[in-house]
Amino acid sequence: MRIVYEPYEMQEIANKYREWGKTIGFVPTMGYLHKGHLSLVKEAKKNNDVTFVSIFVNPTQFAPNEDLDKYPRDIERDEELLKREGVDFLFYPTVENMYPDGFQTYVSVENLTQVLEGASRPTHFRGVTTVVSKLFNITKPHRAYFGKKDAQQLIVIKKMVENLNFDVEIVGLPIVRESDGLAMSSRNKYLNKKEREEAVCLYKSLQKAKEMIDKGTDDAETIKQEMRKIIEKYEIPKIDYISINSLSELKELKKIEKDNTLISLAVFVGKTRLIDNLWI
Ligand code: PAF
Repeated sequence: MRIVYEPYEMQEIANKYREWGKTIGFVPTMGYLHKGHLSLVKEAKKNNDVTFVSIFVNPTQFAPNEDLDKYPRDIERDEELLKREGVDFLFYPTVENMYPDGFQTYVSVENLTQVLEGASRPTHFRGVTTVVSKLFNITKPHRAYFGKKDAQQLIVIKKMVENLNFDVEIVGLPIVRESDGLAMSSRNKYLNKKEREEAVCLYKSLQKAKEMIDKGTDDAETIKQEMRKIIEKYEIPKIDYISINSLSELKELKKIEKDNTLISLAVFVGKTRLIDNLWI
């Protein structure tokens, strides 16, 4: 696996592969890799001639009060994992290379970013869509892979790609979970033992929602109330939001719509904010 630090160098490599008629699969990450990331890498490897992964903890998607400085990092372990998966190129730029002095151009998707994560983190998605646009221009992928755990991110990026005519196919892949159901996330590292045990409440509440829908309940308010009750049985977790929205426009729904419903929640477990969701 070759490690590339400079955007222009990565772009030259991508151009070469395109000239040679090879397909490029790209997995953007912020590192501290877990099995969720590796499932994206495996899929990229399976369906493309060459696989690029980026590791870049993107400052523009963190608000000043968020965890940029303490966001977990372990580049040596990440490199080892990616080598083992047979990744061809790791793009590992510096902040200065991605955002040189004078940087002043941003990409933002409007309505879809006003709700859910966007309501709690108003500057977050502008940072995500800006860095993903840059990464697409640098790595020129035919296909790019994202996890469904960041459901709104995936929906926002699909909209950006459609609206700005990016020539890339966005592939969304299922959430990968720990054995007790907790969705894998780099932020799980922040949880102490008791918090880790209680963090399973997000999954339990989603399971309850699934059970109710399977039995025929379609009233969104009733489902949200039952999910709330599950979480409130635990000691530490504090709900930020539980929401039921359309997948197409992220509009709040009163009734479950088959193939067009996203049930999502954000919960503080101690100081750590965790998210999870279910696609109906
Ligand atoms: O999902 C992430 O890890 C990040 O938001 C992404 C897509 C790599 C952009 O920084």
